[in-house]
Amino acid sequence: MKLLFRRRIKASDRKAVAAVTSSTGFFNREEVLVAVELVDERLLKGPKSGYAFLFCQEGEGPVLGYTCYGRVPGTKESFDLYWIAVDRRAQGQGIGRRLLGLTEKDIARKGGARIYLETSSRDLYGRTRAFYSSSGYVREAVLRDFYAPGDSKVIYVKELIKPPF
Ligand SMILES: CC(C)(COP(=O)(O)OP(=O)(O)OC[C@H]1O[C@@H](n2cnc3c(N)ncnc32)[C@H](O)[C@@H]1OP(=O)(O)O)[C@@H](O)C(=O)NCCC(=O)NCCS
Repeated sequence: MKLLFRRRIKASDRKAVAAVTSSTGFFNREEVLVAVELVDERLLKGPKSGYAFLFCQEGEGPVLGYTCYGRVPGTKESFDLYWIAVDRRAQGQGIGRRLLGLTEKDIARKGGARIYLETSSRDLYGRTRAFYSSSGYVREAVLRDFYAPGDSKVIYVKELIKPPF
């Protein structure tokens, strides 16, 4: 499978993001709408939106996964990974890891030193948390019962190693 990665966003990515996030079965309607809103922001305002995207697709085929990230406003070198999702049918084949690796490279290129992301403590996210841990992300904080009683927010961080010169 020849995977292509692109940062340039297209109008068709509105539908692609809705399809990928919905396919996972992890996100409710409201969350899917928020994911699409970020695409709209980027399409409307360009880089000034503060949202960068990376898409993965097989040739001209449908989008298989994507990330959305950006500098945390008001910080010098902290970035948020707002979204990472891989189409359910394409999971477990290394696409998420490649997306994350390329996203980290782009963040480093933009002067980022720390990447933050947040996820849920629910069992459903067990494999997601394992994915982050094995990708070098460290659990930094837990906001108990943040999403709902028994559903905490877990914040991870990864420090990027700066080249010596
Ligand atoms: C988490 C996610 C982005 C990982 O992408 P992926 O392409 O499935 O992951 P990869 O194939 O690159 O890596 C697989 C690793 O991730 C973990 N993993 C997480 N979810 C997985 C899944 N559904 N299937 C297989 N592995 C999964 C495994 O621990 C695996 O580790 P291993 O390689 O040591 O066995 C993707 O599974 C996904 O979109 N999940 C649902 C949405 C989600 O949780 N998004 C993040 C919200 S905070």
